[in-house]
Amino acid sequence: MTTVDTGDAVQRGSGAMGAPVLQVSDAVVQFKGRRALGKRSVVRALDGVSLTLPRGATLGIVGESGSGKSTLARSIVGLEKLQSGSITVAGEGEARGRQVQMIFQDSLNSLNPQRSIGSTLAEPLMIHQLRPRNQVRERVAELLDTVGLSPDLASRRPLQLSGGQRQRVNIARALATEPKIIIADEPTSALDVSLRGQILNLLRRLQREQDLSYIFISHDLGLVGQISDLVGVMYLGRIVEIADRADIYRRPQHPYTRALLGSAATPDPRRGRVAPIPGEPPSPADPPPGCHFHPRCPLAQPSCKVGDVMLEPAGPRHQVACPVVLHPVARSATSLTDAGISSGRGSAPGI
Ligand SMILES: Nc1ncnc2c1ncn2[C@@H]1O[C@H](COP(=O)(O)OP(=O)(O)OP(=O)(O)O)[C@@H](O)[C@H]1O
Ligand code: SF4
Ligand SMILES: [Mg+2]
Repeated sequence: MTTVDTGDAVQRGSGAMGAPVLQVSDAVVQFKGRRALGKRSVVRALDGVSLTLPRGATLGIVGESGSGKSTLARSIVGLEKLQSGSITVAGEGEARGRQVQMIFQDSLNSLNPQRSIGSTLAEPLMIHQLRPRNQVRERVAELLDTVGLSPDLASRRPLQLSGGQRQRVNIARALATEPKIIIADEPTSALDVSLRGQILNLLRRLQREQDLSYIFISHDLGLVGQISDLVGVMYLGRIVEIADRADIYRRPQHPYTRALLGSAATPDPRRGRVAPIPGEPPSPADPPPGCHFHPRCPLAQPSCKVGDVMLEPAGPRHQVACPVVLHPVARSATSLTDAGISSGRGSAPGI
């Protein structure tokens, strides 16, 4: 089990973030895996995740492919059922479907190609009875304007728009229910760099204007550093480190976070992306016992292979799931540097 409590009021730059708007407690999500030797394996995509999202804040979630980022997002919006644990949105009263909205990476597949943009944006207004029928058209125009699109686009279909315009429509659709929380799962990965900046600026402006809280998922550590107040690092279904943005980029503690930040400093020239961490992530259908990272961790000790590894405080609003780093007496004489882990220290953009 991992436990994260970012506190009731979290400092954000010069100001304070609000009370929790979302609480995820010990969430477990399992999928049926492949059948082998007559037995079907179980993929534990979320393995006891707990986190708190303060109102008005952005929590960035990073981690390698398959670490459970999208499963976390989908379970928060109610698209995946929890095997155990709970997810609570503050100030209930409204259905979660209205309070929490999601923006996906693939702007085209997220929209029904047969429907006009206007009809797509009108749908949530009708389902949740947010406007009388005779005001729906006006509200659709207002939503388009809010995301920087001309109301004339209401009559178009998704294929008649650019990728950037489509992602703005997806944001407008998310805003239609007047949510408290928006979960953005790789929302800019399919866009080129200039459009990416525009979408980030739009999300920032909307957060200020509409008091939104975000969970922002990305492979791109630089991007997460630009937009997040808090950053959580996932590995094989667990959060292994979570902290204020500045703290995690300047003082990463968990060997996986350090490796991730170290690899981000050396982009893979073949793909123009972050170079992978040495070693393959193990299969979530057969995770290593103890600390899941131990087969790839240069600091691993025999004790890392047994028992549960819990998140523990490593400073104000900083939690780490690595007893070896947190309690140096339990550690071998090998230092992080001796073990060949890049410190990964640096600054997130803008800090
Ligand atoms: N519907 C499903 N059925 C079976 N396994 C699934 C399902 N959805 C996700 N998984 C598995 O759960 C694990 C976590 O997947 P998830 O999509 O959450 O990872 P991710 O961190 O979002 O990866 P990526 O960065 O590639 O998007 C993976 O091993 C994945 O194969
Ligand atoms: S608990 Fe052990 S294996 Fe896991 S990250 Fe820490 S040192 Fe490495
Ligand atoms: Mg994903």
